[in-house]
Amino acid sequence: MTCAAKTDGRCTQTPQAFVWSGKPLGQARSAPASFYTSQEVFQAEVNQIHLKHWIFIGRTDQVAEPNSYLAVDTVGGPVLLTRDQNGELHAFANYCRHRGAQLVEGCGRRQRLVCPYHAWGFGLDGRLLRAPGMEDVPGFDLDKESLIPIRMAEWAGNVFVNYDDSAPDLMTHLGGFPALFASHKVEDMRWVFGVEIPAACNWKMLLENAMETYHTGIVHARTVGAQTSMTFDGEENWAAIQVQSTMTTAVLDKSAPAPFPQIASLDEQAKKGTYFTLLHPTTQFVFAQDCMWWLAVRPVAPDRSVLSVGGCFPKDYVALPNFQELAQPYFTRWESVAKEDVGILERQQKGVSSVLFKPGLLSSRDDVVHTMGEWIRQRIGTAIYNDPF
Ligand code: FES
Ligand SMILES: [Fe+2]
Repeated sequence: MTCAAKTDGRCTQTPQAFVWSGKPLGQARSAPASFYTSQEVFQAEVNQIHLKHWIFIGRTDQVAEPNSYLAVDTVGGPVLLTRDQNGELHAFANYCRHRGAQLVEGCGRRQRLVCPYHAWGFGLDGRLLRAPGMEDVPGFDLDKESLIPIRMAEWAGNVFVNYDDSAPDLMTHLGGFPALFASHKVEDMRWVFGVEIPAACNWKMLLENAMETYHTGIVHARTVGAQTSMTFDGEENWAAIQVQSTMTTAVLDKSAPAPFPQIASLDEQAKKGTYFTLLHPTTQFVFAQDCMWWLAVRPVAPDRSVLSVGGCFPKDYVALPNFQELAQPYFTRWESVAKEDVGILERQQKGVSSVLFKPGLLSSRDDVVHTMGEWIRQRIGTAIYNDPF
């Protein structure tokens, strides 16, 4: 997969397999205010996008050991990823089958998950093992009260859930996405970092922002600084840009060699920079020359989201005795740059809530903002917008 039509280092070609029906860049404006502020639009997105597509919830190595679990909130409610005592992975709705209390928080290892309300106990395979005080209920059957499973799939150690049993499978959704990043060998990486950042802005702002480098020299003037990028021909369900830098963009100090070497298996294109991707609808994976990190966005309300930032390194790096010390600059970069973005996006949310708001012209560097808007518009329709794009 290559960049086919470049202008000043950027592609201008519409992603393949993408039916464009909006105005072309140069004439296109940003979306109307209702795209970011309307409860009706938000609810349409939940019903027609979020509950029908794959939601990234974490890494298999976050539940590496038998009897381990990880609780993750999603737009469809709390979710529980477990590895049972036989090593099998499961995903469940994270609530107790008695009267619905959230079963677990955080992560850990336990022989059984005991509800903090009335102490029903579940195995990590989801089976109800004990329900004290239920002996006198006629017909009560432990076997009928297991945790509710959610459709789950994995690619290269990345775990996704889908609330729609009829949605295309994960690998169909990904299409050619894994091939572009195959040389990073993400399946051999280990999760080492995670932080959740509340953001008083619409979920789409976080993803749009993550896919353009127009803002980086301004918003990140004191951190990553100005960047240039090229856009790859994506496919229907994903887009990718590559920030051109032979040094990893995952550390801020460019005056010294990066703490970790390049991943030995990188292909020639991967050596040239850091891929920033948008995997519709709510996940950004970033593939640098020495690590992978992600932004996973959870929509909460039209003007509220949660940004989860996570990071992985090749397992050989993680095994180094001074790994934590070497990795600290990466952790600092991931969190500080994400917070700079959230800061400007909260201002953007305030701005678009003006009753006088009129969409502005998009720049040529807003190309993925443009295609992302179209992807959403095609799934929820335009009838509910106040203004056409
Ligand atoms: S809600 Fe869990 S045991 Fe009652
Ligand atoms: Fe940014």
